[in-house]
Amino acid sequence: MVAFTAMVISSCESKEALPVIALPSNCDTTHLTYNGGIDSIINTQCAVSGCHVPRGGAGAASFTTYAGLSSYASGGKSAQIYTCLMYGNPYRMPNVAQPGWNTCDLDKITQWVLDGAPQ
Ligand code: HEM
Repeated sequence: MVAFTAMVISSCESKEALPVIALPSNCDTTHLTYNGGIDSIINTQCAVSGCHVPRGGAGAASFTTYAGLSSYASGGKSAQIYTCLMYGNPYRMPNVAQPGWNTCDLDKITQWVLDGAPQ
């Protein structure tokens, strides 16, 4: 049972569909790139102290570089970052939302992953 729970927690596996959420009118989810804005969302919402930084917390992978992030962002709907951001996922990320986290950030990261996570 412990081994099963550990496997589920660390993989964020969930197959639930992402509900459609009305985007704020000024939320542009086109032509997203890591260097063109996704980096600042990741650096303020995920790669924060105690979380997705080197030697962060509880074994979380480091997302401080594109190289460290891209393996978790590739694969479209099966990418770990995509499944981890899904509603209904009991281990949904961010597990502790940082100041300023909003649906536009959520939709930009998920659209970037669906676009193939370009650098
Ligand atoms: C939108 C921001 C975030 C995203 C996209 C994200 C994404 C992910 C992903 C893909 C995983 C599974 C891969 C791994 O094991 O590292 C994960 C696990 C984890 N994340 Fe996050 N995360 C975010 C924010 C946070 C924050 C703010 C914290 C700390 C408060 C955090 C703590 C963790 C921990 C502890 C794990 C489990 C590591 C394990 O058990 O192996 N994450 N997250």
